[in-house]
Amino acid sequence: MEPLVAAIDQGTSSTRFLVFNARTAELISHHQVEINQSFPKEGWVEEDPKEIMWSVYECMERTCEKLRQLNVDVSNIKAVGVTNQRETTLVWDKETGEPLYNAIVWLDLRTQSTVEELINKNPGRSKNHLRQKTGLPISTYFSAVKLRWLLDNVDEVHEAVLSKRALFGTVDSWIIWCLTGGRSGGVHITDVSNASRTMLFNIHSLDWDPELCRYFDIPMEILPNVRSSSEIYGWMNSGSLSGVPISGCLGDQSAALVGQMCFDEGQAKNTYGTGCFLLRNTGTKPLMSHHGLLTTVAYKLGKDGPACYALEGSVAIAGAVIRWLKDNMGIVQSSSEIETLAAAAGTSYGCYFVPAFSGLYAPYWEPSARGIICGLTQFTNRSHLAFAALEAVCFQTREILDAMNQDSGVPLTQLRVDGGMTGNRLLMQLQADILCIPVVRPTMSETTALGAAMAAGAAEEVGVWDLGPGQLPHLTSEKYEPQINPEESEFRFARWKKAVQKAMNWET
Ligand code: G3P
Repeated sequence: MEPLVAAIDQGTSSTRFLVFNARTAELISHHQVEINQSFPKEGWVEEDPKEIMWSVYECMERTCEKLRQLNVDVSNIKAVGVTNQRETTLVWDKETGEPLYNAIVWLDLRTQSTVEELINKNPGRSKNHLRQKTGLPISTYFSAVKLRWLLDNVDEVHEAVLSKRALFGTVDSWIIWCLTGGRSGGVHITDVSNASRTMLFNIHSLDWDPELCRYFDIPMEILPNVRSSSEIYGWMNSGSLSGVPISGCLGDQSAALVGQMCFDEGQAKNTYGTGCFLLRNTGTKPLMSHHGLLTTVAYKLGKDGPACYALEGSVAIAGAVIRWLKDNMGIVQSSSEIETLAAAAGTSYGCYFVPAFSGLYAPYWEPSARGIICGLTQFTNRSHLAFAALEAVCFQTREILDAMNQDSGVPLTQLRVDGGMTGNRLLMQLQADILCIPVVRPTMSETTALGAAMAAGAAEEVGVWDLGPGQLPHLTSEKYEPQINPEESEFRFARWKKAVQKAMNWET
């Protein structure tokens, strides 16, 4: 039997465990569990760290059962990689193993006033004060301000820091600490890609930065050790995979970049999950954006491998707008109905929907923006609204692609896509129409998990996945060509931009 490599993909909306053939990249088996989000106050988004771990254990055990039913020996799994929703912030007690508060999810806006205070204190009131070191604007999105909130507002966290029991981590750190033994010897680590989303990490020296920690007043002893994205961190401590090394760790957008084989400078991918994230590989040098994009560490494959960087355009709300139409508005019973509903109208009939539920991320970074739907008439129905929601995802991607083309000076000629929403063919066609370039979707859309599995299998001490030249697996794909004329596309995009201005100035 050929070696297998597995990946835990812990996203904002669900957890998955997937097992791949390390020679062919074929997906052998998987299991998925939805994750609950709670919204305790307006703008707050939390998840239960224990539920996250239960979902990980359940997905692993159920997948192993499925493998046994397929007569596949689980001992063929040679390594496990972890990929995760980034920025989401946790603090736990290393002695009891208990989380000290819910995970504060990346979308959460509770730190908006803290962010405004910090920006107002900076010279020229600049949100880009820390950009040279971190590649990021000061925003509610990143972990540092969320951790600051936990230290200021949760007594248990404050006390645990004083008594040296507190550990901070993003979701990768929490999962790896738990899986490698938790309070009985779990390893407390993160990788460079996840660390680069905290705002405490210097993306040039590839280490926690004392000056940044002082700026946010964060005690450095609670931070995890930063490691490469591909090396053995520890071994699974229990369950069907006990003893298997955990040897890959990548933030989910970095993992998708790897899984889409975007190893060369200039290659890019867009992943449609809860949010939507377009990353372009910029090679071994960080490129600073002048058009509202982020500079992020994409990956570092191996202790001695070079760090590779990416320009990133982050959109907060993509798949989440469909979940909102389902859960909050009751417009559909299941997310998959959106495509049929939108296709029934085939147009938004002049309706524009800016789902700025968590402010607007790239390229605006405007936390006070709020969602709007405009252009409604007596004629507008739920099909038009569904269509407008899909178009919103495509317009947001267009804004990012334009910014990226300007920053890099070399326009993308086609866009590789992946993620849950790419199964929606109407969305894919709309995306090609609105970008005016072809959109290419791998038939195996689980590229995020594949990237984490590749990193785990390629770790030097594991060595079952060769990422060398000519060795990368070939993924079959389908291509969507633009079908409307560019003038029509520009007209709709110009209308969208007007709607965005209204979302940003809705109070005035
Ligand atoms: O930065 C947030 C991102 O990592 C979340 O990804 O797939 O859960 O939308 P996703």
